[in-house]
Amino acid sequence: MNTALVILAAGMGTRMNSELPKVLHPLAGAPLLIHAMKAGFALDARACVIVTGHGAEAVAAAARDWNEDATCVVQEPQLGTAHAVAQAAPALAGFDGDVIVLYGDTPLIRAETLEAMQEARKADDIVVLGFHAADPGRYGRLVMAGDTLERIVEFKDATDQERTITLCNSGVIAADAKTLFDLVAAVGNDNAASEYYLTDIIAIARARGLSATAVTCDEAETLGINTRTELAQAEAAFQTRARAQALEDGVTLLAPDTVYFAHDTVIGRDAVIEQNVVFGPGVTVESGARIRAFSHLEGCHVSQRATVGPYARLRPGAELSEDVHVGNFVEIKNALLHEGAKANHLSYIGDATIGAGSNIGAGTITCNYDGVMKHHTEIGRGAFIGSNTMLVAPVRVGNDAMTGSGSVITTDVPDGALALGRAPQVVKPGMAVKLMDLLRARKAKKNKENN
Ligand code: UD1
Ligand code: CA
Repeated sequence: MNTALVILAAGMGTRMNSELPKVLHPLAGAPLLIHAMKAGFALDARACVIVTGHGAEAVAAAARDWNEDATCVVQEPQLGTAHAVAQAAPALAGFDGDVIVLYGDTPLIRAETLEAMQEARKADDIVVLGFHAADPGRYGRLVMAGDTLERIVEFKDATDQERTITLCNSGVIAADAKTLFDLVAAVGNDNAASEYYLTDIIAIARARGLSATAVTCDEAETLGINTRTELAQAEAAFQTRARAQALEDGVTLLAPDTVYFAHDTVIGRDAVIEQNVVFGPGVTVESGARIRAFSHLEGCHVSQRATVGPYARLRPGAELSEDVHVGNFVEIKNALLHEGAKANHLSYIGDATIGAGSNIGAGTITCNYDGVMKHHTEIGRGAFIGSNTMLVAPVRVGNDAMTGSGSVITTDVPDGALALGRAPQVVKPGMAVKLMDLLRARKAKKNKENN
């Protein structure tokens, strides 16, 4: 089916108490708006129109950052949800197919739910997504007659009788584009809020002899974010869902409640994720890899059988090949570690390439930044980097080369060479004992003078 998305995201979000437009607040590492877009694009949507208003430029930039083809229109002033949808009409002129209206502040709707709405559209002209609310509060109420949706009444305009209805409006609507925009154009603002309510299109459609129905989903999916509290609740709901999905996908989570996923985390079967691991955006972990406790990963790729942590940090551009070991208190950024390379303790590896099977000794640091520019470190295969080596980039250490512990390496080390870049050791026989005697005598003299 030919589908276009219209995502409403013009609202101010006053109750977030924030400088940031509401729909740009992150959930699982991506703006709320992106979650709505992802659910919609899972349906193979042909077009996506985002109705912006408050913070329009920032919202448009975020939308295009995720999908270059997203069209943004500005709704100014914001006169209600029907008025918002009407702003999308010119951008979809000539579009022949269905429109699904989503809210930019409602991030947990599942693609399966939208598919169920598409399915229901085969039988009815308009399909609204409803949910049975535990506490219906101020939601719009769906007035049903059997399977037919007769109208939606907003809380402010509802009678006491209507307010007892617990089937509520999520705001998601699917209809043929032409039908939708015709109906929206007929909506007035004679109501308690003097707004153009999108919900009014149902009664108008019914009066015109069109059919409408409701599809329901779990209330958790329809959670709209208006406050920081709701944002935190949505994050918790997202994490619960992501953990369940990972377990179902064959990932071992030793303590699921302590693992945090991003919106796009990909983990292969039989990978093991230990306790208290945090995934930022852009992480792929392949089958059989192990991420040990208290590690933080973002923008990185961990190949099969590699192990990471405990207490490791993989930053954007960290690429770990098969059987790589990254141990405790090791930070890796923009670096490729070839097969079987090891950096097991207390290191910073940034802007580097590490050859297969090389061993990076404890405390090794790639000094990649000169205060202005970043420089690359290249280490060949089978190299042995002694503990506490400072690799002052740009620098290359060859295949099968070694550096002595504590070396500061400032020039290239040829293949097979040993480089020592440290002050030679001096040994003075008996000097330690002499020195201690001298110091103790000085202290005794001082104590005597003070008494
Ligand atoms: C709306 C529904 C209500 C439903 C509830 C679900 C209407 C009239 N009411 O109420 O039935 O139960 O959502 O959460 O549709 N927006 C714009 N431009 C506008 C107004 C709103 O883009 O002029 C956007 C908002 O940014 C938001 C969404 O539309 O993303 C919903 O608007 P909001 O004001 O929160 O509607 P509710 O009063 O919650
Ligand atoms: Ca709302």
